[in-house]
Amino acid sequence: MAATPVGQHAHWSSRFAFILAAVGSAVGLGNLWRFPFMTGQNGGSAFVLIYIGCVILFAIPVLMAEIAIGRHAQQSAISSTRKMAQEAGKSAKWAIVGWVCTAGGFLILTTYSVIAGMVMAYSASGFLGGFSEPGGATMFYGDNGAKLIWHAVFMIITVMIVARGLKGGIEQVATFLMPVFFIVLIGLTIYSLASGNAAEAIAYLFTPDFSAVTGNTFVAALGQAFFSVSVASAIMITYGSYLSKDTNIGSSSVLIASADTMVALVAGLMIFPIVFMVGMDPAAGMGLIFTALPAVFADMPAGNIIGGAFFALAFIAAITSSISLLEGTVAFIEEHSDFSRPTAAVLLGFFAFMIGAGAVYSDAFAGEFVDWMSGSFLLPLGGLLVAVFAGWVIPKSLMRQELSHASNGLFGFFHFCVKFVVPPAIGIILLLGLDAKFNGGAIGAMVGLG
Ligand code: PFF
Repeated sequence: MAATPVGQHAHWSSRFAFILAAVGSAVGLGNLWRFPFMTGQNGGSAFVLIYIGCVILFAIPVLMAEIAIGRHAQQSAISSTRKMAQEAGKSAKWAIVGWVCTAGGFLILTTYSVIAGMVMAYSASGFLGGFSEPGGATMFYGDNGAKLIWHAVFMIITVMIVARGLKGGIEQVATFLMPVFFIVLIGLTIYSLASGNAAEAIAYLFTPDFSAVTGNTFVAALGQAFFSVSVASAIMITYGSYLSKDTNIGSSSVLIASADTMVALVAGLMIFPIVFMVGMDPAAGMGLIFTALPAVFADMPAGNIIGGAFFALAFIAAITSSISLLEGTVAFIEEHSDFSRPTAAVLLGFFAFMIGAGAVYSDAFAGEFVDWMSGSFLLPLGGLLVAVFAGWVIPKSLMRQELSHASNGLFGFFHFCVKFVVPPAIGIILLLGLDAKFNGGAIGAMVGLG
């Protein structure tokens, strides 16, 4: 198959298919793994409220901008930003917006797959009765070789789906798995609320208590909002490019971000009743679901099945996100080379696997390079660039044309945010991140951020 002719690529079968695929991208390990531990580490309800604020003020406007850019130009993120800039009479160098986002999305994929592999291994342990054995949770996840194999398996599944294309792969998987996801999520949450410490969990998540808020709470909440809603990673531009002109981008964006936020909150209601039931520390950190939960499942009636189902749920969430992460780069390569989609998917998947493998063998590489580069640098920078692009580079009339279905109020809110709210706020966050990394946090300390 030759390169896809520019502007003539596939389209979603329906708005529903687009929404499910976009919600599938947004709902992922960010909701089930990252949100609970970030909430635990950042003071519970205070973090939750600030997080919701960040979704409304930052993530939704950037999401609207990305879908609009992609839908307008009908190309991958890099080509779309270049084309739209040129159309607006601006420099083609604005394709940098697409480049930063694409690089960020690709880098997220590399370690995302490692954690998703771990989720698969834990699910297998649960279903095979491992949680009730001492140390059984890691029965398939012992050494680096095992980690590598699970990482490879997850990446291969991702590649196979993306290779099948938009309709035969991504759309089919999302429309089948997302309903399954919601049913299992609701079932597990009811079980957890009924059998765990529901009252304490609800109080922890929803009683406003701002005593624990520091500047870092805002930094963490913003990063989490971008990650969770899948913005600033080229994906939503790419998914937007498969959208037809009659779809209402404003209401779709609000729906996608709301569904994602609901899932994060429900995931909190699923996990914290169990955490509190056994008196575990909610601030246990990254290991919250991997070390703490299996220990709890060990003592629960039907704990193996419940635990296996929990990690299977996380797997479903992860796969519908990882396919979007790979699609962002595959769309670009397919457009700009003679590689067929399957070849592009295999090559990029292999490349991402290799970087992820480096992260398995070196914590320093994982933390110092991959996580920092994607989470603290490329993601905020990508969000900043998208906002500047949509707010300052592209004329307001052109954005309005693409967001023609949005009410005046929603469009006014969107434009004000991408122009005046998002750039300065993210600019500050980016600077603080760079300061913490290269300057020992001197500026952060000066302004009171510990
Ligand atoms: N939103 C996904 C999650 O919450 O797990 C992760 C993700 C997917 C981030 C796609 C960025 C992205 F472009």
